Amino acid sequence: MNKNSPHIHPIFENILKRNDKEKLLNQHSVVVWFTGLSGSGKSTIAKVLEQELHKRGYISKVLDGDNVRTGINNNLGFSDADRKENIRRIAEVSKLFLECGIVLINCFISPTHIIRNQVKEIVGKENYFEIFVDTSIETCEKRDTKGIYAKARQGLIKDFTGISAPYEAPENPDIVIKTEELSVDLAVEAILKKLLPRIEFKND
Ligand code: ADX
Repeated sequence: MNKNSPHIHPIFENILKRNDKEKLLNQHSVVVWFTGLSGSGKSTIAKVLEQELHKRGYISKVLDGDNVRTGINNNLGFSDADRKENIRRIAEVSKLFLECGIVLINCFISPTHIIRNQVKEIVGKENYFEIFVDTSIETCEKRDTKGIYAKARQGLIKDFTGISAPYEAPENPDIVIKTEELSVDLAVEAILKKLLPRIEFKND
């Protein structure tokens, strides 16, 4: 900076940009967004994806209901308005990670077009990589790993996605994973094939 004219060269000159961070980390950041029903397999696939990225030297962070709804969003429920607010905050947090060059792996039902469009608006659609985990409600209900579908059927949980609240399948996801046809490892392999070219650092 020119010492004699501090006002001409504003402070912004000293602020490191996303690209500086990406260069340091040797990766491009992106928001990987898993959408699908509860029990569809989003978090299971995401955790293996995180491991595989780690092995290749890429730093990422998994956000899901477990770490977000018990922390920053612990005041939110499952009304349409609360889901929207849940996802808005997650998108804003994702944007901060994005600016640090870190790959986000987000797993949220994010059930409607409006809710997912909000994410694209906040993080920028060029930064958004959507994965639709396409598992039927029958299979999710059969798996019922958390016993939550049984409770929803008994009417103990209201506004339950796929039962008493809507799930709108995305129209144009970057990739669709059919967990009834594909193992977790094959799902991750298919995702990596499309995702790695987005993450590999190109000095542009
Ligand atoms: S979202 O709709 O706001 O995107 P999110 O992914 O954070 O939902 O949380 C979903 C998880 O919360 C489910 O996997 C399930 O364990 C739990 N849950 C509790 N109540 C509901 C409900 N009414 N609908 C869907 N999931 C619920």
